[in-house]
Amino acid sequence: MNFQRVLLLVAIGGLLVMGISAASFGGDKPLYVDGIDAAFPPFSYIDKDGNPTGFDVEVIRWIANEMGFDVKIVPVDWDAIIPTLKAGNIDFIASGMTITPEREKQVDFTDPYWKINLAVVVRKVNQDGALVPQYNIFSAVSPGRTIGVQRGTTSQTWLEENLIDKGVGIKLKVYDNFLLAIEDLLIGRIDAAVIDAPTAQAAIAGRDAAIVGTINTGEIYGYAVRKGDTKLLSLLNEGLKRIKASPEWDRLVEKWLIGG
Ligand code: ARG
Repeated sequence: MNFQRVLLLVAIGGLLVMGISAASFGGDKPLYVDGIDAAFPPFSYIDKDGNPTGFDVEVIRWIANEMGFDVKIVPVDWDAIIPTLKAGNIDFIASGMTITPEREKQVDFTDPYWKINLAVVVRKVNQDGALVPQYNIFSAVSPGRTIGVQRGTTSQTWLEENLIDKGVGIKLKVYDNFLLAIEDLLIGRIDAAVIDAPTAQAAIAGRDAAIVGTINTGEIYGYAVRKGDTKLLSLLNEGLKRIKASPEWDRLVEKWLIGG
């Protein structure tokens, strides 16, 4: 066998080895871990079969498929989600997170993808044989009321900065997730609860509670990555650009955010 044929065989052998390894490992897509709050419908939550779902979850799965990465979705306590990202235990956060200057010091955000206001929720009570909201927007947040919020949210900060710090005598009851606040509201442990309007709407569907008004904070959602993780940031931004340009965006908005 001459030298050239040996080289050729070595090259073919190399190609075969590469081909076999690619096939048996199913390619080598990078894997990114997405941390979510598991109790934040309609953006991210765990359904009754134990599977992560919601608008953000479906958007991220579409983007991962489109941009060629694998994604693992894990629940994390909201209050600990930024420290968990910084510690490297998750790679990004896709869970209805508002872009705030305070958070921008700690993480990098993608381009905005949704805008929300805060909703004030109260219990419905029986009055002359009809179920009506117990308070209106003014009486719901007036002195003496106890208001439920989720720990570490813009709702908590808004009520602290705009009412409590200015001397309005309301009390806050702080919960690990918003669904717990709604349970307490329904049994009369708190007078009102405040959270992002789409979540308020999803959480009270079919229950004896009502939204009596909104606080127009005009918050903008983005996905968060570790500071300086430009590679993942551009994958997510390019993915967002593509999904917004595809019919899938309208389908998911309709399914999760408008249709209900
Ligand atoms: N958008 C609000 C914030 O960023 C509320 C978020 C609450 N929880 C959640 N999983 N997104 O503070």
